[in-house]
Amino acid sequence: MRSAEVLDCHVLVIGSGGAGVRAAIEASGYGETILVSKTLAGKGGCTTMAEGGYNAVLREEDSCGIHFEDTMKGGAYLNDPELVSILVAEAPQRINDLLAWGAVFDVTDSCDVAQRPFGGQTFPRTCYAGDRTGHEMMMTLIERLASTNVEIENEVTALDLVREGERVVGALCLDGKGEVMVIRADATVLATGGGTQIYDISTNSSSGTGDGFAIGYRAGAELIDMEMVQFHPTGAVYPYDARGRLITEAVRGEGGILRNAAGERFMSRYDPERMELSTRDVVSRAIATEILEGRGTPHGGVFLDVTHLPRQQVEEKLPVMLEQFLKFGVDIREEPMEVAPTAHHVMGGLRITPDAGTTVPGLFACGEVTGGVHGANRLGGNALADTQVFGKRAGESAGRSPRRDSCIDPKAIEAQEERLAAFLDGQVPPSTVIRSLKTAMWEGAGIFRTEAGLNKTLGVISHLSSLRLLARTRENLAECCTAQNMLLSASLVVRGAILRKESRGAHMRKDVVQTWDARNSPYGHTYQSLDRSGIETAVRS
Ligand code: FUM
Repeated sequence: MRSAEVLDCHVLVIGSGGAGVRAAIEASGYGETILVSKTLAGKGGCTTMAEGGYNAVLREEDSCGIHFEDTMKGGAYLNDPELVSILVAEAPQRINDLLAWGAVFDVTDSCDVAQRPFGGQTFPRTCYAGDRTGHEMMMTLIERLASTNVEIENEVTALDLVREGERVVGALCLDGKGEVMVIRADATVLATGGGTQIYDISTNSSSGTGDGFAIGYRAGAELIDMEMVQFHPTGAVYPYDARGRLITEAVRGEGGILRNAAGERFMSRYDPERMELSTRDVVSRAIATEILEGRGTPHGGVFLDVTHLPRQQVEEKLPVMLEQFLKFGVDIREEPMEVAPTAHHVMGGLRITPDAGTTVPGLFACGEVTGGVHGANRLGGNALADTQVFGKRAGESAGRSPRRDSCIDPKAIEAQEERLAAFLDGQVPPSTVIRSLKTAMWEGAGIFRTEAGLNKTLGVISHLSSLRLLARTRENLAECCTAQNMLLSASLVVRGAILRKESRGAHMRKDVVQTWDARNSPYGHTYQSLDRSGIETAVRS
């Protein structure tokens, strides 16, 4: 094993999506920065797959106050108002950074950044690059990163953070050959993204396995609102291999219409005012209800139709959708798509301060691994803005951390090597465990939940966690660690869902009789850490 080698840096950033790369760019101005990516920096993660857009207030008719209220209302008022204020105030500056670094967004005839409507907005404020906005952002960020002296460690999996007393002083990682790497850092940023791969049907890339939730939790950090999982209303339903793939909200933003198998524009029964541009929690439940009540399409979805739009609009504004469906044998200019909800985003995560500090000293976090910004339901377009606003803040805060004379305790390395050695002597392949986990989560902790279903799912997770995971070679060790992270993340989601005995935003408890609306809920955040768990009473201003 190579565990004797210790890499040393001022800032360690774990995760190479939009938030991690933005944090690394910022931190590099303060000292030696290492970026650890379990894939290839900029290629994995969810930012690059994000299609629809980036919300920012850019027009005089719009305002930060309106963006704030839209975000709070969309989040069922569970959002941390201070974090939301920062998001809306700084999103325009951060998109200007991207433009200055060469990002090409769509523009109007007068060359201003174009904006289109997304769900839950009272002003069309989603900026976009066709329907490949995240890809454009990631290409720009990676190019910018290349102009810094950030050291990139590709195909390196973070195993766990290491603490000296209360403080995080770096991380233990696994390289592509399955050898332990030790990284000491004055400050560490977790930017590992979300984890909806714990569900059978998900938009997330294969790297969306909740690693940061598990790593943060094991290091003692507090997580909030983990039960808040967003189901994007429109994922592909066929062919089978494409199940869950994101069909961007931009389709509805451009005027796409939802219909059930009988041809009824059913959103008029669920949100007659906002129709298809209602918030994602509402649209997902509407689609799921149509399907459950027998009004779904033969493939088990509903229709999403843009055939009434000018062909040129579809070709220019939704080129990826057009191309993707042509590959599935469907020309969306002439026939409707079939769609159904798919697990998309975790609103909960590590509790952070406005400066992206977590509850553990020396540890910062940004992007989807954090909780609080999006409350109980995220508005489409707010995630890309979140990556840039809080990515910059995390990088800056970590960079400003004092230099320290810390060291990595050899006992932590020994413990990690014991954990890995046990996998080489295990019994059950991680793929078997993950398959069972995904099914259990989809069935018991999906769009509609009951205490009985959640408890049953928790039982399955507990059983799966007791199995001895098997790595056939050292190269397979990372898969076992990922499976453990997925099991822990799933248990955090389910335990949060059991704690929250109300329906709010994306969390729908069918077994709770409720007399209050979101604004008057007696409940605040759920919280879970190694030391404590529970649900707060609401704080009202
Ligand atoms: O539908 C979409 O394009 C996704 C956007 C988002 O989740 O923000």
